[in-house]
Amino acid sequence: MEIIIKSDYSEISSDSAMIVANQIKTKPNTVLGLATGSTPLGLYKELIQLHLNEGLDFSNVITFNLDEYVGLSNDHPQSYNVFMRDNLFSKINIKKENIHIPNGNAPHDKECERYESLIIRSGGIDLQILGIGSDGHIAFNEPSSSLGSRTRLKTLTQETVKDNARFFDNISDVPRFAITMGVGTIMEAKKILLIASGVSKTTPIRKAIEGPISSMCSASAIQMHPKTIVMVDEAAAKDLKEKDYYKWVYNNKKTLKN
Ligand code: PGA
Repeated sequence: MEIIIKSDYSEISSDSAMIVANQIKTKPNTVLGLATGSTPLGLYKELIQLHLNEGLDFSNVITFNLDEYVGLSNDHPQSYNVFMRDNLFSKINIKKENIHIPNGNAPHDKECERYESLIIRSGGIDLQILGIGSDGHIAFNEPSSSLGSRTRLKTLTQETVKDNARFFDNISDVPRFAITMGVGTIMEAKKILLIASGVSKTTPIRKAIEGPISSMCSASAIQMHPKTIVMVDEAAAKDLKEKDYYKWVYNNKKTLKN
């Protein structure tokens, strides 16, 4: 794991956008795995700016979102379809047919199989963006999710329902189920970029990076992934025991010529 500690959210947003942009420039038909939530909003804003100002070209990029709520229509303001459209897709030159988001209204088992095979048919995910939940989840892989799990229906924890209630009028409106890529699905991405910011992420980041690998914190599975970057700010990194060591490695690496 490469652990990069930035000073704040805005640095995470611009530096993670550079990683995504370089990936797209190197491989214009990159398959990107995308996340929703508050954390990647800054990254998406930066990508839009790179598209508008520097011509970053998404015309051959293919995307797969991690998850979607079950039971919300595709045009529901809190659906991840609308989130992605409003915060990224409508502002870049991506082709509609290259966008993939699980259909939370289709028969679940068939939809999950369809999604898994679509990912395989597209050649697999080149770079997967991840946030982390306060309960340590990646996508909606809540505590006790098998570390080998595939795309499937998951029941959200009470903590996740509470965390996401801020986007709905009433906590009772928050869906209780989602279709989500599994931990095993995510681990097959060729590269992973996990971003986290703020004090609400201090504990899950400590568990994910320095805790035991455990299904009780599905983000800890990234310790098994050979090409993962974890980019966090000082607040999220606050309780990392080896914080100084990670900074030492990062600063030394910057001096490498090749
Ligand atoms: P957040 O959510 O970015 O809104 O904090 C992250 C997550 O639940 O994965």
